[in-house]
Amino acid sequence: MTALVSHPLSAPLSGTLRVPGDKSISHRALMFGALAAGVTEITGILEGEDVIHTAEALEAMGAQIARPAEAGGVWHVTGVGLGGLKTPAKDIYLGNSGTSTRLLMGLVGGYPVRATFTGDASLSKRPMARVSKPLEQMGVKITATDGGKLPLTVEGAETLREISYTLPVASAQVKSAVILAALACEGESTVTEPEPTRDHSERMLRFFGANIKSEKKPDGSNVVTVKGKPVLTGKPVMVPADPSSAAFAAVAALIVPGSDVLLPQVSINPLRTGLYATLRDMGADITFENERELSGEPVADIRVRHSRLKGIKVPEARVPSMIDEFPILGVAASFAEGTTYMSGLEELRVKESDRLAAIHRGLTAAGVTARMGESTLEVDGLHGAKPQGGCTIETHLDHRIAMSFLVLGMASLAPIEIDDADTINTSFPAFATLMNALGADIRSIGETA
Ligand code: S3P
Repeated sequence: MTALVSHPLSAPLSGTLRVPGDKSISHRALMFGALAAGVTEITGILEGEDVIHTAEALEAMGAQIARPAEAGGVWHVTGVGLGGLKTPAKDIYLGNSGTSTRLLMGLVGGYPVRATFTGDASLSKRPMARVSKPLEQMGVKITATDGGKLPLTVEGAETLREISYTLPVASAQVKSAVILAALACEGESTVTEPEPTRDHSERMLRFFGANIKSEKKPDGSNVVTVKGKPVLTGKPVMVPADPSSAAFAAVAALIVPGSDVLLPQVSINPLRTGLYATLRDMGADITFENERELSGEPVADIRVRHSRLKGIKVPEARVPSMIDEFPILGVAASFAEGTTYMSGLEELRVKESDRLAAIHRGLTAAGVTARMGESTLEVDGLHGAKPQGGCTIETHLDHRIAMSFLVLGMASLAPIEIDDADTINTSFPAFATLMNALGADIRSIGETA
């Protein structure tokens, strides 16, 4: 474990930070490229550990993935075509990655493949029955540990039954797993999501030639209809920067006085930008400049300037569009005038860590007053005053907890240490270097500035 310390800043953050590629889109470009015929060229892929685990899993099942030796290059996936996957020679280790696990379960389920997935201590605690349940209804055989946890073995079937499934939890991962299995069916399947979640799978599969329709109902739900057995053709994919990773630099700029930061080519898919809407409601100076499209995803250059924030009640309907951003919102809320109320957070309990508890514990340790309920969090802002800091945060294998508290350290009175910075590699390997290039002061213990 490598500890890191974030020291309080006396000068603003300024400049341009190129945030790495979107994690969700990177996983999907690899998986759909592996299923499609021909070659999928991927530019801007996230070279983080989670995505590497997906690549290795696909290689173990027969896809060819050419990765350039130097970082930041173009990757090429040679697909095996629908039905071309093979049983891997050994268990597949997926590290910390819930997205790899849940999407691969659906992808493998439709073909006569037997694969066992394992993961790290965090992933091994996370619920997988939410995916097994619809897949089993479709005819996939799944053997899991402890009622639905990893290690877990998926035995795909030659023919799957179509399904009409309503998601009991708002989860793009479960939706995507069902969509992937539905591609292997003869007929049509539907997935209804009471609260719409990120739609990267639908967008990219359509781009590759699948027949997938999304229909918004008057009650706010979304019905996704998938026609089985499409012809999928690999296409060039340009991966935009990840709005969930950009969020750390955005909030850092908001809380460090005088800051002005530009984050180019970030996905502004409306199902991902809940945090930015919330911060704007809190009074943040955030502008989306140069809005355009990149491989079917809306993107913009995001400009953030230091702002006085005020506490608000975060609309519950917005939770799925900012599901990964509550740790960093907790940090922003600490600097606001008044209290920020967050509710509908039950899914945070089953992320890479119990994130709700981790946010509450970390803020309290840093001297911020926060109250936690079963699925709620209230943070009393310090009216622009600096929190005490001067604490060590246990990251519990959760990259977003690690980065959030390093950001808090930038505007606290005393430095904030995190016990394990290695976990950041899952989604944002160059985080400390890139933040330091903007003016942050993140160092190893004992390292001089
Ligand atoms: C993801 C969906 C979200 C999110 C995760 C990535 C995806 O999870 O938390 O980081 O790529 O589909 P759920 O869909 O389970 O909420």
